[in-house]
Amino acid sequence: MFESLEGYIEPGSEEDVLVRRIDLTRLPRHVAVIMDGNGRWAKQRGLSRIEGHRAGSDSVREIVEASARLGVKVLTLYAFSKENWRRPRREVSELWSLLRNYLKKDAHVLMENDLRLLVIGQKNGIPKIVLKELERVERETAVNGRMTVVLALNYGGRSEIVDAVKRILRERGTDPDALTEESFSGLLYTASLPDPDLLIRTSGELRVSNFLLWQIAYAEMWVTPVLWPDFRKKHFLQALVEYQQRERRFGDIRPR
Ligand code: IPE
Ligand code: IPE
Ligand code: MG
Repeated sequence: MFESLEGYIEPGSEEDVLVRRIDLTRLPRHVAVIMDGNGRWAKQRGLSRIEGHRAGSDSVREIVEASARLGVKVLTLYAFSKENWRRPRREVSELWSLLRNYLKKDAHVLMENDLRLLVIGQKNGIPKIVLKELERVERETAVNGRMTVVLALNYGGRSEIVDAVKRILRERGTDPDALTEESFSGLLYTASLPDPDLLIRTSGELRVSNFLLWQIAYAEMWVTPVLWPDFRKKHFLQALVEYQQRERRFGDIRPR
């Protein structure tokens, strides 16, 4: 079991200095991450792109652990977008097989640490053999309550919204006034989750790439030039420190 921070953060280290600046009672409830830069990381080292993705999965393990230990309640990781199907077939199939291996090897970490897995995205479209594994782990971890790890797979923000509208047209009555922002949120893949408070993007790109378009309306954005395979708990802690320095106003003139 991941215990609290004791023994995890070396006293006097850079991480220790950062942790001391974080108010653990004011953490973002939901952190969403656009994990970007695996390809460039590999290219810099003369490696294949898939080596970059492999190295990126170590960052996933580290950030899942750091989030759980700190007490974040929801961690969403953008792992495969609907647009990522445009990549060379070999890269696409290697990405899915990496995910399958991760599930086989690491599902027990979720169980042992009371972490729930939730997949968002269009499930039909995910390779059957991977989907089977994903649904097994979702089922097995469904009652876990410490933190929810949300994997965005075959995910597109626009198609999520279109899917919700389709459901309204199909299932709901004809009263337009019955539709509210709350009821619409309840039709998205993220229905059971709070909106992200903090959106992290690695590798320096200043765009959202079709991620959680509805849900990030008031998220604080934090972009780092660090490439995803180099992203470590130290960077995550930096993001939290800066998040807590922001003044969130939600349209008001006073902080909220
Ligand atoms: C992010 O890294 C991983 C996925 C999108 C699956 P990239 O593969 O996009 O890396 P860059 O952006 O080419 O460096
Ligand atoms: C966004 O990264 C998707 C994921 C991290 C899964 P991309 O690398 O696909 O985004 P663009 O193409 O640079 O916008
Ligand atoms: Mg990229």
